[in-house]
Amino acid sequence: MLRILNLEAGYGALRVLKGLSLHVSEGEAVALIGANGAGKTTLLKTVAGILRPRCGTILLDKQPIQIKPAERIVRMGCALVPEGRHVFSTLTVRENLILGAYSRWSRKNRKDIDEVLEEVYSLFGILRERHAQLAGTLSGGQQQMLAIGRALMSRPRLLIMDEPSLGVAPLVVKDIFNTISILKNKGLTILLVEQNARAALAVADRGYVIETGQIVLEGTSRELADNPEVQRAYLGKEYQRIDE
Ligand SMILES: Nc1ncnc2c1ncn2[C@@H]1O[C@H](COP(=O)(O)OP(=O)(O)OP(=O)(O)O)[C@@H](O)[C@H]1O
Ligand SMILES: [Mg+2]
Repeated sequence: MLRILNLEAGYGALRVLKGLSLHVSEGEAVALIGANGAGKTTLLKTVAGILRPRCGTILLDKQPIQIKPAERIVRMGCALVPEGRHVFSTLTVRENLILGAYSRWSRKNRKDIDEVLEEVYSLFGILRERHAQLAGTLSGGQQQMLAIGRALMSRPRLLIMDEPSLGVAPLVVKDIFNTISILKNKGLTILLVEQNARAALAVADRGYVIETGQIVLEGTSRELADNPEVQRAYLGKEYQRIDE
């Protein structure tokens, strides 16, 4: 469904992605793990059409999208849950969700938008409960659920998520990963960027490790979780041993 080939992107003179390639097949959940500054957000922004790559190809359903505007990419079925959530804090929960459907907004879609709103509310009961509350007054975890819900409002086939567990209380992290697993079981294709490698590999089928703008390892989630280098660098095994 998504195929990235030799992607290079950066900011001004800074080269961040240095010839990165990966793919996500239909129905798969794929985790991308890597340290701070490795280029994870840069990659997702490039896929979502927020940042133009210098070279390389991004294929969504075999169609090149690296030159397409962000809203077109949403309409083609790829939605981003951005790092840091970015909900509209002075709008209500419901208004934020409705805005997520802007790419499909039309009178004849009215019923469908109500339906998908209902689906999001059944996935996140708290959003239904708080539908009239200003998004800025939600807790961090609730805002993350809202950001996921808003992305789902565009009825994506591919959901790309940037650090959904960042700054969220441990109990809520569990809820969020449960939701990701529910979405995957419903058939949604997912590309998940996480520093919480343990949780990401638990929910994903496959994974990639990114270091300084390049993929350095790939494999099934089990292969990566069993890999001593991954364990040392991303699963904190050493820390655990010292603590014990
Ligand atoms: N808007 C920007 N302008 C200039 N440099 C940037 C910008 N955004 C990111 N960078 C730089 O690009 C590099 C990669 O950043 P990126 O945000 O992609 O990393 P990341 O893997 O998502 O890290 P984190 O885990 O901290 O979210 C970093 O060196 C960062 O400082
Ligand atoms: Mg990031």
